[in-house]
Amino acid sequence: MKFFVDTAEIDAIKELHNLGMVDGVTTNPSLIAKSGRDILEVTREICDLVDGPVSAEVVALDADTMLAEGRKLAKIADNIAVKVPLTWAGLQTCKALSDEGTMVNVTLCFSANQALLAAKAGATFISPFIGRLDDINIDGLELIEDIRTIYDNYGFETQILAASIRSANHMSDCAKIGADVATAPPNVIKAMANHVLTDKGLAGFMADVEKAGIKIL
Ligand code: E4P
Repeated sequence: MKFFVDTAEIDAIKELHNLGMVDGVTTNPSLIAKSGRDILEVTREICDLVDGPVSAEVVALDADTMLAEGRKLAKIADNIAVKVPLTWAGLQTCKALSDEGTMVNVTLCFSANQALLAAKAGATFISPFIGRLDDINIDGLELIEDIRTIYDNYGFETQILAASIRSANHMSDCAKIGADVATAPPNVIKAMANHVLTDKGLAGFMADVEKAGIKIL
């Protein structure tokens, strides 16, 4: 499973990228607003840093303006994936951009039907939002499973990009189901390293290091 990092914070991307943990980046208008940066400027900086797909989201609601925005975003770098919402206008924009050879990430997906439409419209990525479904007591992981089944049944090449990930467990759950990509905030990716038995085991080893005066350097 590929790891995308869900942030527009350059330092956080750099830290994970240096460890080989970043196969791509996703942003959205809320993450751009949180960074306090200009969307074009920060997106260009991220594209310079990361080789994999960098999702940058349109902000218009009608297809014509979305398409113009998408074309402008796509000019930033070859690894831009234009992010469009899963609305009818978004699907129209997805089809037009993917026909032009631009990668498209269709976002705000909350149903298998929506995912089926995105694949038909030529989406490179479909982004089902697990956490926001869980928030309203609908099983987000079940949606990933359903989309996996549908895409595999018909050989759709659209990649399932699990989004709105809130916990480290979501990451391994998505990998078990067969999501192609999971995008998570940096703190969730780092939390994947944590285990209480690792901490306990290390404390025991350190006590023995102290007791025996073990030194390597
Ligand atoms: C990424 O593409 C999504 O925009 C993001 O994962 C949404 O996450 P949230 O539901 O935690 O805002």
